[in-house]
Amino acid sequence: MKRALNSILTSKWTKVVVFLVCLVPLGVLLWKGYQGDLTANPIEFVEHWTGDWTIRFLIITLCITPLRKMLRLPLLIRFRRMLGLFAFFYVCLHFLSWVVLDHFFNLHEMWTDVLKRRYITVGFTGFVLLLPLAITSTAGWIRRLGGKQWQLLHRAIYFAAIAGVIHYYWLVKSDETKPLQYAWMVGILLAWRIGYWIYGRRQRSGVRTLPSKEPSTAEMA
Ligand code: HEM
Repeated sequence: MKRALNSILTSKWTKVVVFLVCLVPLGVLLWKGYQGDLTANPIEFVEHWTGDWTIRFLIITLCITPLRKMLRLPLLIRFRRMLGLFAFFYVCLHFLSWVVLDHFFNLHEMWTDVLKRRYITVGFTGFVLLLPLAITSTAGWIRRLGGKQWQLLHRAIYFAAIAGVIHYYWLVKSDETKPLQYAWMVGILLAWRIGYWIYGRRQRSGVRTLPSKEPSTAEMA
C-alpha cells in the first residue's frame, strides 16, 4: 500500500494532475464569466471567488507538513511548493480584481482604501507577506539564503494565513460562520506545529540527558 502510494507521489503525472486540478477554480470562474453567470454584481463575485480560493490554497499548503508527518509520507513535500504558488497565484488575481475592477488603477483611491478600511489594510499585509515567499520559492534562492534562513522566512505563510482570516472576519457584515470555520482550520494547523515543535524539543533534550551507556534510574524503574 505504502509502496503504491509512494510511486503515485513520485510520478510526474501526479504533479501534472495536481497542477490541472489547481487550475479548476480559475476555469470555473472563466466559464461562469463566459456564460454571463457572475450574478448581478460580477465585481463582487470575482473578488469573493478569488479571495475564497486564496485562503483555501493557503490552508491546503499548511496541511502538507502535518499530513507528511502523520501519514509518514515524506514525498508529499513534492507538492508543497506548487500549492503555495497557487495560493500566491489566486491572491494575485484577487488583488488585481480589486485594482482593475474595483478601482480601475486609481492609485490615490486605492491607497486611501488601504489606510482607511482595516480589512483592506490587513488583507494587503497578507499579500505583502506572500510576495517574498513566491520570489524565493526556487532552488536557487534556497541555496543563496541557506536552508535555515529560508525556512525562517517561509514561516511568514503562517502570518499571511492569519492576516487572511482576520481580513475575512472583518469584511463580513452579518454571517461570520465561514470566516470562523477558516479561523478554526488555521488555528488547528498552527497549534499542531507548536505541539510538534514542543514534542521535538522534549525528545531532543531527553536524548541529550540520557547517559551514553547505562540506562537512567527512571528508565530502570
Ligand atoms: C492573504 C491575502 C488575502 C486573503 C487570504 C484574502 C481572502 C479573502 C476572502 C476569503 C474574501 C471573502 C470571500 C467571500 O466572501 O466568499 C475576501 C474578500 C475581499 N478581499 Fe481579500 N484576501 C486577501 C488579500 C486581499 C488584498 C491584498 C486585497 C486588496 C487590497 C483584498 C480585497 C478584498 C475585497 C475588496 C474583498 C471583497 C469585500 C466585500 O465584499 O466587501 N484582499 N478576501
